[in-house]
Amino acid sequence: MKIAGSTSVIVAAGVGGFVATRTPTDALKPWENAGSLYSDPMRRALSYAILAPNPHNRQPWIVDLKSGTEAVLTCDLDQLLPATDPFSRQIVIGFGCFLELFSIAAADQGYRADIRYFPDGEPGDALDRRPIAHLSLKKQEGLSGDPLFAQTLRRHTNREPYDTSRVVGDDVLQRLRNAATGKVRVGTANGGTLLKDLRVLTKDAMLAEVGTPDAYRESIDLMRIGRTEIEANPDGIALGGAFLEALNLTGVLTRESLADPTSRSYQMGLAMIEEGAMASMGFVWINTKSDDRAAQIEAGRAYMRVALQVAADNLAMQPMSQALQEYAAMAPYYETIHDKLADQLGERVQMLARLGYAEDTGPAPRWPLETRVKEN
Ligand SMILES: Cc1cc2nc3c(=O)[nH]c(=O)nc-3n(C[C@H](O)[C@H](O)[C@H](O)COP(=O)(O)O)c2cc1C
Repeated sequence: MKIAGSTSVIVAAGVGGFVATRTPTDALKPWENAGSLYSDPMRRALSYAILAPNPHNRQPWIVDLKSGTEAVLTCDLDQLLPATDPFSRQIVIGFGCFLELFSIAAADQGYRADIRYFPDGEPGDALDRRPIAHLSLKKQEGLSGDPLFAQTLRRHTNREPYDTSRVVGDDVLQRLRNAATGKVRVGTANGGTLLKDLRVLTKDAMLAEVGTPDAYRESIDLMRIGRTEIEANPDGIALGGAFLEALNLTGVLTRESLADPTSRSYQMGLAMIEEGAMASMGFVWINTKSDDRAAQIEAGRAYMRVALQVAADNLAMQPMSQALQEYAAMAPYYETIHDKLADQLGERVQMLARLGYAEDTGPAPRWPLETRVKEN
């Protein structure tokens, strides 16, 4: 969050020497530890999988380790998003991202990942304690690794405004469409009326979410402001860095101010939403024919691959999920987006993300792998 007059606020707060110490180093360790702490193929692949994009960074995965090559993946039902994701569709998409990253990381070690989705049956509208997937690794001679593996530590969600002087080329969009595998249809836009419409639609849907008390409250409650909160809870929405922390210390940026429509930080939040959405230089979306749980997993796997290709092309990307969500305030946006992006066969738009060029904003916090794994 950039707020004018930042330097004076920082100086006023007396924060000399403060800047260098505000990085939540422990919360970012999983990015350094990926692939290096563990020698067994299962933990090694999982150490990458936990870096998967996932809604509000809830990291709802619990891994029940059966052996060095076998595990059962379940959902931590305390990490759901009932207001903005009432059917946990997005949570399941996050699991799809996790499984794709797991599979790519396993292949890098010469293991084929055999993944069975919902081995005890698919959950209905509410997720339950039954497994999301059964994982097993098989050594396979001559297995060629996936070139996208090289991007696993470079991929980050980027919420900055993108460079409006740089067009996202047709060749780049073609590579993004080709990166996805599975039973999905990937669409892209980089110009014309569709790009303009999607900018406005994603902006309006996000503003509508901020204007919906339950939905906005869910996000505010998950904000971790400053290093201490981020290290204590390396999930949710991290608002870190010396600048934001100084704003927090001076009372400009707090959970209370963010919730108060008359406050400066609330107004700045709205301006940032507008600026980010309107600076979208392209969009990518992932559709599935049905909206069952397996389709949601497939959409997540495809999104993961697209996100890695985005990193390979040195692009930036941010999901703009509001218009796809299932609560009442989103109904008009949901309908418009499906009119525009889904075909006649009743396709479901599972992911929609904006694209462009921007400086990398770096990794988001993660819980260490040990905290997500149960051993029998
Ligand atoms: C299904 C899904 C929906 C998401 N929706 C949004 C969104 O609407 N806005 C946003 O800024 N990020 C969204 N994200 C990105 C997550 O917030 C992000 O992956 C998470 O905070 C971890 O950060 P990282 O991707 O940089 O590792 C979404 C991710 C997934 C998988």
